Amino acid sequence: MERRQLIKHSAFAVAAFAFSKNLFAIQEERGMPNSFEGSNGGIIKLGSNENPHGPAESAKKAMIDAVIISNRYQFDTNAQLREAIGKLTGHSKDNILLGAGSSELLGVVTSWTAYKKGNIVASEPTFKVWLPAARKLGLPTKLVPLTASKHNDLNALASGMDADTKMVYLCNPNNPTGTVSPKTELEAFVKKVSSKTVLLLDEAYTDYYDSPSMAHMVNDNPNLIIAKTFSKTYGMAGARVGYVLAHPDTIKELSSFMAWANAGPSAVSMKGALGVINDKAFIDYVKSENIKAKAILYKGFDDLGIKYIESFTSFVYFDTKPYPKNIPAVLQASNIVGARPFEDNSTWLRISIGTVQEMTKVVEALKAGAAKA
Ligand SMILES: Cc1ncc(COP(=O)(O)O)c(C=O)c1O
Repeated sequence: MERRQLIKHSAFAVAAFAFSKNLFAIQEERGMPNSFEGSNGGIIKLGSNENPHGPAESAKKAMIDAVIISNRYQFDTNAQLREAIGKLTGHSKDNILLGAGSSELLGVVTSWTAYKKGNIVASEPTFKVWLPAARKLGLPTKLVPLTASKHNDLNALASGMDADTKMVYLCNPNNPTGTVSPKTELEAFVKKVSSKTVLLLDEAYTDYYDSPSMAHMVNDNPNLIIAKTFSKTYGMAGARVGYVLAHPDTIKELSSFMAWANAGPSAVSMKGALGVINDKAFIDYVKSENIKAKAILYKGFDDLGIKYIESFTSFVYFDTKPYPKNIPAVLQASNIVGARPFEDNSTWLRISIGTVQEMTKVVEALKAGAAKA
């Protein structure tokens, strides 16, 4: 790529980040005080689908040991982590681009899309961290409602595409609803969409319930980009390590939209990811605790007559309609923050799954609140 083109690409990327929501606005939206950091301080944080069990001992040790190399740039560590991810997913390191969390890379794909002009097709509601940048960069977005059961409507998304569609975004399992689409339907969707345009498939939550991943399709479908993260099951949200899997040509194109070669996570964060990547015991623990904690919430909702969607993730989408009070306010009175809406004029909220103890407190607070009504 020519230098002039590169500068243009980088300017797009930088603009996209500058346009995204500021941190304080995000914290406020999630019901958190601006000064709040960390996972304790008496507040139970259930607004950002963070993993309450992380970071793993394996990640912590690796990050502590890595502090000593943080005077050097992170080129080698970047290559090591891409190798290790490739071993895990069955790819080569040329199929992988690392970012400071997968959100950075969702921004990079959005910048690439803006560079090509056109429009974006996505579900509503879904994870739309890329939307403010898309709007500022002049990309119209067609939002396609979920089905009545709050699943991604794959047929409607495919028919929502037109000749100007330059990106389809699909989050599977979907955030905020926690629903998954079946493997065969997803494979057909990947083939259909990626034969025409870029499909950005966000698989941030596939690991929790071994939901179908489409990672095996990237080498045959250069328009398929899969986003994954160390923020969820791996418990490293604040360390900021994410990646995309794609055809090597697509990876090259995307990396030209990053601020510079090997931008992305720090050496220390990547060493943490290398520490935890094969820590099966930690991942198994996270998954089984998530199941236990979620069962406590489901039981509480059943007792209170609250309808919810079966979730394949670390959060649950539920309908507050039968509850006699304002649920976020009831929870906040017990120092529990984060239950929040994702649709306009809707009674549905999303809450993250914390520890078994935290979800027990959520249910106790909801039951006490209902009893007092
Ligand atoms: C669906 C989805 N994708 C991507 C992300 C971004 O994760 P990160 O930038 O921490 O990797 C999140 C975070 O909540 C998410 O829910």
